[in-house]
Amino acid sequence: MQQDSNRTPRRILITGGAGFIGSNFVHHWCNSYPGDRVVVLDALTYAGNKQNLASLASNSDLKFVQGDICDRTLVDNLLESEDINTVAHFAAESHVDRSIIGPGAFVQTNVVGTFTLLEAFRQRWNKREQPQNDRFLHVSTDEVYGSLEADDPAFTETTPYTPNSPYSASKAGSDHLARAYFHTYGMPTIITNCSNNYGPYHFPEKLIPLMCINILLGKPLPVYGDGQNIRDWLYVEDHCRALDVVIHRGKPGETYNVGGNNEVKNIDLVEQLCELMDELAVDLPVSPSKKLITFVKDRAGHDRRYAIDASKIKRELGWTPQETVAGGLRHTVKWYLANRDWWQPLLSDEYKSYYNQVYS
Ligand code: NAD
Ligand code: TYD
Repeated sequence: MQQDSNRTPRRILITGGAGFIGSNFVHHWCNSYPGDRVVVLDALTYAGNKQNLASLASNSDLKFVQGDICDRTLVDNLLESEDINTVAHFAAESHVDRSIIGPGAFVQTNVVGTFTLLEAFRQRWNKREQPQNDRFLHVSTDEVYGSLEADDPAFTETTPYTPNSPYSASKAGSDHLARAYFHTYGMPTIITNCSNNYGPYHFPEKLIPLMCINILLGKPLPVYGDGQNIRDWLYVEDHCRALDVVIHRGKPGETYNVGGNNEVKNIDLVEQLCELMDELAVDLPVSPSKKLITFVKDRAGHDRRYAIDASKIKRELGWTPQETVAGGLRHTVKWYLANRDWWQPLLSDEYKSYYNQVYS
């Protein structure tokens, strides 16, 4: 993003900043705005990983705090002691399959946790005499809009909410709270609803990293159902750029859909990953890796298709994605090939037990 010489420095609290998108956003912010204070609050659940921020360890603008967004005292203290004027809220339980096995954690973090942050921010914002430049960015998902049929138009900001999984229902609940805090209290909240992201630091249980890693290990590639489900993929750095633009130029009280206009069937995506791996990896245990593709029992309530209409953020804020799916997937595959030391330790006993529960 173009630097504005009159830009007011921000003191930003990034929740979930040790997770996949949150950590990419921390890197983006620290690189783009040196001198801004960046405070990361992350509980380091199974999905959080301090290694994602390791290359920023010597950055004195950045502070990492391990803690729960549901801990009101901790959040109050951080907002006050760090004089926070901006929140970028990523922390969440984020995996649909885990929400099917155990929905309670999703309600706790996604609904109660978001409520706790909103309340703490409201108190702080009031004490600070309600500066209109402060921002509370609530990062959400396109899954709140439910599932599309093949010929339906893509989701717009006015598509009615129809969440189908405990994950998307809990995100929908948190979106409604963020919206209500603008309408009721005038608090400068903004919501973004983004499509499926991919890229570096993506935890190994999600589709793209799972397939890359299983190919390297010679393990089956589990494709749910008939593999015809469609997702709209966005490279994570494009998402970070969109959130940056929304914080700086978005209008409080608004919602912005963010997406790559890259609808791909799951089976086609997996085949593309196989081809890339066959080209880029050496000594694969099974080659060609397409031989590993295995159709498995479908996910309960599996949404058929997601597609985002991102014309509002383009029209109003000038954001468009810069990465193509072909280019983004190539970067991503190369990253997983070059960063075995990052993902290997994540295949822990907890991961294996989760994996057996879902796939056996
Ligand atoms: P992730 O699961 O990789 O990371 C979540 C992070 O939140 C982890 O670091 C975890 O430790 C932390 N966390 C969880 N519970 C916490 C708690 N109670 N207190 C503090 N920290 C806690 O998730 P992600 O894929 O990076 O997604 C980030 C956000 O973006 C989520 O809100 C998600 O709903 C949204 N989103 C994700 C996608 C996607 O494709 N991954 C797409 C659109 C929107
Ligand atoms: P996922 O990465 O879990 O994202 P989401 O469910 O939030 O869209 O899954 C992306 C798609 O890939 C989704 O349609 C489910 C499918 N999928 C598989 O077919 N096999 C798998 O092992 C996983 C994890 C996902």
